[in-house]
Amino acid sequence: MMISRYVFGSPLPTMAVVREIAASEGAVPHFEVSQADGRVSFTTVLGEDDQIFGLGETVRGINKRGHLYRSWNMDDFSHTENKPGIYASHNLLLFSGEKGVFGAYFDDPGAILFDLGYSDGAKAVITSENGDLSLYLIEATTLTGLVREFRHLIGRSYIPPRWAMGYMQSRWGYSTEEELRFIVSEHRARHIPLDSVCMDIDYMQDFKDFSWNHESFPDLKRCTAELMADHIHVVPIIDAGVKQEDGDPVYEEGVQNDYFVKKEDGSLFIGAVWPGRSCFPDFLREDVRAWFGDKYRPLLDAGIQGFWNDMNEPALFYSVESLENAFQMAEKLRHENLGINGAFQLKDAFVNIANNDEDYRRFYHLVDGKPVRHDRVHNLYGAMMTKSAAEGFHRYDPDHRYLLFSRSSFIGAHRDGGVWQGDNSSWWSHLLLNLKMMPSLNMCGFLFTGADLGGFSCNTTEDLLLRWLALGVFTPLMRNHSAQHTRDQEIFRFRNWQDMRNVVSVRYALLPYLYSLLVKCACRDEMMFRPLVFDYPQDKTAIRVEDQLLLGDECMIAPVYEQNARGRHVYLPEDMLLVSFRSGEEYALTPMTKGHHWIDVPMNEVPLFIRHGHAIPLVRPAESSDQLDTAHCTLLGWLNHSCVISLYEDDGVSADVKLEDGLQLINISLNGDCAVARCVGKTIDATKLILG
Ligand code: GLC
Repeated sequence: MMISRYVFGSPLPTMAVVREIAASEGAVPHFEVSQADGRVSFTTVLGEDDQIFGLGETVRGINKRGHLYRSWNMDDFSHTENKPGIYASHNLLLFSGEKGVFGAYFDDPGAILFDLGYSDGAKAVITSENGDLSLYLIEATTLTGLVREFRHLIGRSYIPPRWAMGYMQSRWGYSTEEELRFIVSEHRARHIPLDSVCMDIDYMQDFKDFSWNHESFPDLKRCTAELMADHIHVVPIIDAGVKQEDGDPVYEEGVQNDYFVKKEDGSLFIGAVWPGRSCFPDFLREDVRAWFGDKYRPLLDAGIQGFWNDMNEPALFYSVESLENAFQMAEKLRHENLGINGAFQLKDAFVNIANNDEDYRRFYHLVDGKPVRHDRVHNLYGAMMTKSAAEGFHRYDPDHRYLLFSRSSFIGAHRDGGVWQGDNSSWWSHLLLNLKMMPSLNMCGFLFTGADLGGFSCNTTEDLLLRWLALGVFTPLMRNHSAQHTRDQEIFRFRNWQDMRNVVSVRYALLPYLYSLLVKCACRDEMMFRPLVFDYPQDKTAIRVEDQLLLGDECMIAPVYEQNARGRHVYLPEDMLLVSFRSGEEYALTPMTKGHHWIDVPMNEVPLFIRHGHAIPLVRPAESSDQLDTAHCTLLGWLNHSCVISLYEDDGVSADVKLEDGLQLINISLNGDCAVARCVGKTIDATKLILG
């Protein structure tokens, strides 16, 4: 057995894993276990050069060693290094060192502290605050093997419809039908490819879930149909909190049926989010998930095929109680001469009313009919909201895929939807953070992911957006999103919009390849993005590289992530072909040898490396994904022998995805200085292949 399970206390159900593994008895390999004050700690000794990977969506580097992280889903819009975590809890660790590799998954929906060589550089100590959990130990000989084992345990990753891999434009503030049309027409007029526009909270009536403002959207169905005729999907947001308002059907049904979380005394827990005072569906209950999941119907009936679920940590601006406490504190301090302590006390009384630990201890869920205090299952909330929506969509239309991505998540939610990386900032460091989160998320099963390109908070700059788009070309979710009151961030607002358009066209040229890769990785339990150490564990330089990633088996990406840089250093662990894209149709090819290089990357170029011996297909870019002509393609690569490459294709929307049904084989044969490629139903140009 490659995975063994060890049980501590009485674990609460999380639905993270899909295969049942009988509990093992006896000592836990690799870890020393200690129990105190209801907590359980697992300690393992680290060799000087050991590395630790995992933890999915969180801050800092790909190698997690040297810092303190805490699984506690949190609405925190400032993703700085000092944070213990952000919106998600992905409790997977992979240890890699001289003695080999092993993995550990801590299946626990409560808080977990990961002290990875922080208190003591030579030790990793993982502490479950609940003390009730299943620990899965994973054995394999390679990091890739560990991930495959783990992903097999947690089940197949979500596969979005193909159009969801097209470019998306979003902004907090789009409020009317006219505005959406304006955004679309500005893209179309300039031939900037676009597949979707997202509607943020302003489409709603008073921020009420499942409502829309009938003045701004007098006929939503007609609007979505007309945009769809232009190959544009409308993607609305849904929030976790339901406005407490008499007359609102969601609120009233929730109250009548007892669907909202309650306090110990049986009264409703009221917390505030965008609409003010709100109630929170108990997504941990199956009946509540079914109810909420069916609420998406009117929007689905209006022609909508995709959603983003937000504020589902759940985010709390304040609770009735925390607000009251803050006012009392202010009253108490009102006539004092506030010095060092008093002034901070006053400020903190208000700052701490949001997402307050005490509030997360105020309400209860029903788990198997028994009340469980929220903090014990906190990290599951977003995942269960995702599940509710996914199951609702499946009931609505079992034959078609849906687009769904969430802010908060837990392992298990990777089967039901994707995630975006939350409220980043328009900072160069967050472009790099976006890159670093990709492989960590992939390890944990989340393939459909990406960050807000250009940055969410703060004002972006034209060079930052351009370079960030050049990374977004490769991330399955490619969405430009920004916060209210920041500078306009749509491509067409900028002087260099043509360069940005050309960058987006690279995405469309690569879309069949990237889509095929995502489906293959989902079906084979593989990662789309891998740190170099996964493929070159013996290469002392490669194993420490954190700003380049392998993409599939064929490619490597190395984006520019520094202001005013006109190139960057790259390390090639083997010979590779550099493709310098100026657009999806214009590129230069440079074979490069293994080793260190400085590459020039002018502002209008997207670099991509293809490993020697591999080739990838490129199609003619189009303005939307369903206008792509996949019957014609050009192969890019550097080959010294004949080979066969495979490409997965399907209709892009059917729910039943079977890898073997959609795999097309492209036979490439080399004859002297000429290459010929054949594939049933395709015309393939092999003349761009570099031979030798
Ligand atoms: C949250 C989301 C962000 C969204 C905003 C308004 O901050 O993370 O993407 O724009 O809420 O809905």
